[in-house]
Amino acid sequence: MSVRRQFPRWSSIKPLLGWSWPTFRKRDRGLEKVLTIPDLRELAKKRVPLSVFDYVEGGALQEISIMRSKDSFQRVEFHPRVLRGVTSVDLSREVLGKRTSMPIILAPTGYTRMMHYLGEYAVAASAAKQDMVYALSTMGTCSPSDLATATPEGRKWFQLYLWQNRDQSRDFIAQARDNGFDALILTVDTPVSGQRLRDTRNGLTVPPKITMKTFLNMATKPRWWANLLTTPPLEFAAMRGYDKSLFELAKLIFDPSVTLKDVAWLQKEWGGPLIVKGIQTVEDALEMKKLGVQGIVLSNHGGRQMDRGTTPLELLPEVKKAVGDEMEIYIDGSVLSGGDVLAAVALGATAVLVGRPYLYGLMAAGEAGVDKMADVFREEMENTMTLMGVDKIDDLRPEHVRLREH
Ligand SMILES: Cc1cc2nc3c(=O)[nH]c(=O)nc-3n(C[C@H](O)[C@H](O)[C@H](O)COP(=O)(O)O)c2cc1C
Repeated sequence: MSVRRQFPRWSSIKPLLGWSWPTFRKRDRGLEKVLTIPDLRELAKKRVPLSVFDYVEGGALQEISIMRSKDSFQRVEFHPRVLRGVTSVDLSREVLGKRTSMPIILAPTGYTRMMHYLGEYAVAASAAKQDMVYALSTMGTCSPSDLATATPEGRKWFQLYLWQNRDQSRDFIAQARDNGFDALILTVDTPVSGQRLRDTRNGLTVPPKITMKTFLNMATKPRWWANLLTTPPLEFAAMRGYDKSLFELAKLIFDPSVTLKDVAWLQKEWGGPLIVKGIQTVEDALEMKKLGVQGIVLSNHGGRQMDRGTTPLELLPEVKKAVGDEMEIYIDGSVLSGGDVLAAVALGATAVLVGRPYLYGLMAAGEAGVDKMADVFREEMENTMTLMGVDKIDDLRPEHVRLREH
């Protein structure tokens, strides 16, 4: 057979070209290549000193809790329904009475300006843009009032470590109330700090000290160091005026003498929505229901406190069965893909909290990196829901998911 040949034409070649003319807009090629949260993690690792990356990445002791959480999500099997005519997907979810764009809350994390010089400001700005809730930590490096001034828009929660010393606790509550934070997260899995061996081995101090080892590392991460040294020093900003060093404050923050009675006191004092984070048994979930809190987070603190704790995704169905719909249930730890979020929601979670995923984004590229994290989760959720034949996140049910044995 013969075909009639023609002279190649520019209009038919152009669409086939895999390159474009260079532009002079500043582009972050590393970030453009990111497709998944693990890609974002790899980019983060390249852009900050190893001791900082390890501080984020690590857990307590043998890091068994982290491995088990990851394993639990890998055992998720979806049971899709076909021919359901899903042409668009609604990811929005009601969290404490208000809709958010998707069932993901940005978890409280301390020392955030160590990961990137814009720290909490960058995270809150991205969260506001994406219509997601952001929880500021008591150990934040930006105060509730500074954050509220910098990003007045967007929904914010404040995470509290409760002290028996009522005056100190009242001070935090007032900062949250006066600056428009609309819920408190009380973290209860920290009677003492977990044993994080990576930090001990790396000799990590806060603020980071310039030792011979860090000096050598500076040469490889000049941008991170330049930003650290030319911006205001790291501080626990909610504790400004306490006249103590960062090290002394870190020890002070955890109070092992706190009991259930203190939670009841806090409810009265605060008067607004209260979420208790760090619940690891059905029995404690029932105690919280008795107290009448608005939500609980099934969490082992991302494996950073007690190692070999319970695994939130596995605990979720039992807790849901025991407490019913009266209280919102969230889970966290190793949620690393849109599919992980959907599995948690299907098994009864109102939403998940993510810590490391947005910190990877922050370390990789500041606010743009946090935006990327949200985009990755959103695209993965939309795609998986369409494949599952479910058009509203609220319609996910336990029947859509099975946790395989292995
Ligand atoms: C670097 C880092 C700092 C954290 N700081 C706090 C904190 O100050 N208060 C708190 O309640 N939880 C803190 N957490 C725990 C998170 O709120 C959350 O429970 C955990 O990160 C969830 O696991 P994931 O990081 O795998 O998503 C921290 C976690 C990380 C990674």
